[in-house]
Amino acid sequence: MLLPVTYRVNDAGRMEVGGCDLVELARTYGTPLYVYDEETVRCRCREFVQALGERGEVLYSAKAFGSPGFLQVVAAEGLGLDVVSEGELYLALAAGYPTDRIHFLGNNKSREDVAAAYDAGATLVIDGFQEFDLLNSVVPQGSRLRCELRLSPGIRPETHDFIATGQLDSKFGFSIESGAARAAVEQALAHDRIELVGLHSHIGSQVFDLRGHLAAMEIVLDFLAGLRRDLGFEPERLGAGGGLGIAYTREDRPPSPAEFVTALLTALDQGIARRGLRTPLLVLEPGRAVAGPAGVALYTVGAIKDIPGVRRYVAVDGGMGDNIRPKLYGARYEAFLARDPEGVAAPPVTIAGKYCESTDILATDVPLPPVQTGDVLCIPAAGAYCLSMASNYNGMPRPAVVMVSEGEARLIRRRETFDDLLAAEIL
Ligand code: LLP
Repeated sequence: MLLPVTYRVNDAGRMEVGGCDLVELARTYGTPLYVYDEETVRCRCREFVQALGERGEVLYSAKAFGSPGFLQVVAAEGLGLDVVSEGELYLALAAGYPTDRIHFLGNNKSREDVAAAYDAGATLVIDGFQEFDLLNSVVPQGSRLRCELRLSPGIRPETHDFIATGQLDSKFGFSIESGAARAAVEQALAHDRIELVGLHSHIGSQVFDLRGHLAAMEIVLDFLAGLRRDLGFEPERLGAGGGLGIAYTREDRPPSPAEFVTALLTALDQGIARRGLRTPLLVLEPGRAVAGPAGVALYTVGAIKDIPGVRRYVAVDGGMGDNIRPKLYGARYEAFLARDPEGVAAPPVTIAGKYCESTDILATDVPLPPVQTGDVLCIPAAGAYCLSMASNYNGMPRPAVVMVSEGEARLIRRRETFDDLLAAEIL
């Protein structure tokens, strides 16, 4: 699935998402513009929730895209939420997210973070020993905060180095291999402000090959067997993280959410049966797989530069400020001409951004029909980790966001203005 579920070519021969013509949206709201298809968001949420059923809980990982207007749709689908900072929690509270469904993660929580999680009534996912002290200073005597512990299972999934997190050499979590995880469980069980409800792990992101998740499950279940044997402790909840990859190009074939959930449930069931363990609730926290396929980015073509025998650069009005992924992770994207998505491709072009850096290239050598200045280009699979990682580099205001559904578009984030650039500056 490269394009949103409601995508079609309309009678005018143009791209349409959520019943809205993308060329028209670009005209109405300006570009760069991020367009989210509500139906796709809901379908992706439902696929996870239905596949997991009563066996567990799905949290959406807000870091993928955390605009309150987007979070409201996810909340309405019944998902919980994973936040990693007071700021993300603030966005969730602004969205009216049910706080009993919020989990607060993060490897270096401040006292303020822990206090915010406690005040909100969120579940805290403890990532390091210093949090035990923070909990003493935040949680009043006689009270307990629902907590989970983040384990590091020592697994390196098949993905880009920068987004692999489960390996021994990682800043995240208590390593099972080193004995830190065992020590953390013992401390948590003895801690009078902690109600230890679960154990959690997350091995990485944009993962297609689920063997890493299955191997991590085995390691975690071995760890659980040791806890039961030695401490008589069995967690109610077992978090297996997110990480399911999505298609960015026509060739990408990621597992579906249902395949992801089924593979993990099967591994869990077989693993606990072999070890005679109690069945925990399985907690999953996809970010990219929910938001990614739902969003497309629209840009307007400006300068076109030919270097004979070398390449044609097609420059657009956004770039690394709204999508750092190509240069940070070597991510590849497809591009479509919004007025003629199925037109016959001319020789491949390179889509450059407008930031003052040579590295500001969104897609290299992509096939497109002949493109002219003023044309609107659509980059699919732009819903996750683009705007949430956006910056004001080069003094560029960040793009607007619309949510489309059944022919209606609603603005959920306005385009930033130059005054927004000055909002925090002191003159
Ligand atoms: N849970 C934890 C603890 C995580 O650290 C993450 C992502 C997720 C869940 C959600 O993972 P997802 O389902 O989205 O793969 N900026 C990078 C991705 C960084 C992911 C960080 N952690 C990118 O653009 O590819």
